Amino acid sequence: MFDRIAKRYDLLNRILSLGIDRSWRKRLVAKAPRNAAHIVDLATGTGDVLLAFENHYPGTPTLSGYDLSAGMVAEGVKKCQRLGSRANLMIGDAANIPVANDEADIVSMSFGIRNVPDVSKVLDDIHRILKPGGSVLILEFTMPKLWLLSWGYKVYFRHVLPFVGGLISGDRHAYTYLNRTVEDFADKEAFLQLMTDANFKNTQATSLTFGIASLYYGQK
Ligand SMILES: C[S@@+](CC[C@H](N)C(=O)[O-])C[C@H]1O[C@@H](n2cnc3c(N)ncnc32)[C@H](O)[C@@H]1O
Repeated sequence: MFDRIAKRYDLLNRILSLGIDRSWRKRLVAKAPRNAAHIVDLATGTGDVLLAFENHYPGTPTLSGYDLSAGMVAEGVKKCQRLGSRANLMIGDAANIPVANDEADIVSMSFGIRNVPDVSKVLDDIHRILKPGGSVLILEFTMPKLWLLSWGYKVYFRHVLPFVGGLISGDRHAYTYLNRTVEDFADKEAFLQLMTDANFKNTQATSLTFGIASLYYGQK
């Protein structure tokens, strides 16, 4: 599915989030501890998280991105070349990350975790590749708690988003899928529990934009 929408993915992200998605990725980078030598971004898509690290993070850490979709990676590689980025985007599964144990200082994943069939397996594998003391940062949509906002969010996700997404990408199904995965995904408390179960310490969740997205943090 992501192969099919890859060419229009960035454009649709900017339109459908009204540009807010960029500020969420900046928040993720701002929350990351400094002095990382190796940053691994999972479900990297077209590489926007790594580009945010490159632009807003001190030093020159190694930037590795993995995604299952060859189409998304191809679009990301083109974009990184165009922008002169040194991020390295590759095909790879977040549940079986092609990175050695205790290798990464930071592992990030933005709007990818709700797509995987086994969330705990991914969290375990992130824990495996992190150095002791290393940090995980995960961005994901959440359902806002305030009922009016929650109602507006559902209308937007169930009707506006599939319509506009379908019109521009030519793939309405992909944008219907988006709303189903968001509504079905774990809430903040349940996700923090999954992180604790995967042995992460100092876990925190920060609500972004009235709770329509959350930034999760934890340490190995
Ligand atoms: C909504 S996009 C997010 C892309 C990017 N992180 C961003 O913030 O724009 C979700 C991405 O997750 C990828 N994905 C889904 N399951 C995956 C898995 N098991 N391993 C790696 N990537 C996966 C998809 O191919 C897709 O590119």
